[in-house]
Amino acid sequence: MKILSIETSCDDTAMAVVEFEQIHQETTCKILANFVSSQASLHNEYGGVFPAMAKREHIKNLPILYQQVVEKCGENFDAITVTVGPGLEPCLWTGITFAKELAERLNVPIIPVNHMEGHLFSSLLPEYEIGEKIILKELPANSISLLVSGGHTEIVKINKIGDYEIIGHTVDDAVGEAYDKVARMLGLPYPGGPHISKLAELARGRNNIPREISKPKFPRPMIHSKDYNFSFSGLKTAVLYYIRDNPIKNEDDKMAIACAFEDAAVEVLIKKITTAINECGATHLLLGGGVSANKYLSSELNKISKENNFEIYEPLKELTGDNAVMIAIAGYFHQDEIMKSENIKANGNLKL
Ligand code: KG4
Ligand code: ZN
Repeated sequence: MKILSIETSCDDTAMAVVEFEQIHQETTCKILANFVSSQASLHNEYGGVFPAMAKREHIKNLPILYQQVVEKCGENFDAITVTVGPGLEPCLWTGITFAKELAERLNVPIIPVNHMEGHLFSSLLPEYEIGEKIILKELPANSISLLVSGGHTEIVKINKIGDYEIIGHTVDDAVGEAYDKVARMLGLPYPGGPHISKLAELARGRNNIPREISKPKFPRPMIHSKDYNFSFSGLKTAVLYYIRDNPIKNEDDKMAIACAFEDAAVEVLIKKITTAINECGATHLLLGGGVSANKYLSSELNKISKENNFEIYEPLKELTGDNAVMIAIAGYFHQDEIMKSENIKANGNLKL
């Protein structure tokens, strides 16, 4: 089954072609094309995604990416997968409208896909070369997913494909959103996650030499709450007040704040996910979403995985952020949910 996949839920226009084959229990796939056109630099001056501009850019980018796809792979597809939510509705509609028009012209069906389910499956893909036939990892029986992105922070118990329980979620800001807002306070570009993370890494390195930079200690909101929920808004506000009372004088100050923020955010994530894994008896953790590119989070998770007897599936770096390959994988698993074009609608608040 050769799938053309489209993802436009936020500020990345993404398109991919993935060919799947089912050989008994094994799902093999070939990634024939994987394009992502990022708008990050355009949204920089707004410190976040400006929906009307994102929509305009998707409208401009989609035909350009499709042209590249056609040059590489032709126009012979068995189905189109497209993200229908959650995300920014004007952006979702651009992808859906493009998919509908194409589906009609090529006379192929559409499979609507949940963006978070895409992130959830992104870690099933092993290392690959374009055009190489690879075997997708099987979804382990007792798995939990930690989905950390710019819009979501969720702990998901996976019963089986398509049957999920969100057992923990943020009650306010998503962790990626907190990274982006703190980055803005430090005068760093959007998206801020990678910049904060780089500064934090430098700060941690510095602690190995005698003259340590002194780090503030920020709160760990909800770390002791008896549930798996998160709150990152208080942490962000604590950073804001700290900067107000201790104006940044140099790069060391920035590093110290970035590191102290990341320590707090990651500690809460680790505490909640460890508790969830142990209480649910999970054997596997599937990590997904833009923040899963964070090296400190990954190394802290790898530390606890040994003590707590679980295996981690992490997405390849290029599949941590928004991409259309993960949407193709989720769509392939839902190929029985092919829908009539006119019934496909965007739903910005769609849940897993
Ligand atoms: O999954 P994603 O690409 O888009 C959404 O679905 O939201 O996630 C984007 C988020 C942004 O908030 C960005 O700052 C964050 O992922 N991010 C990171 C890192 N790389 C991206 N956060 C922390 N550390 C990183 N290395
Ligand atoms: Zn995403």
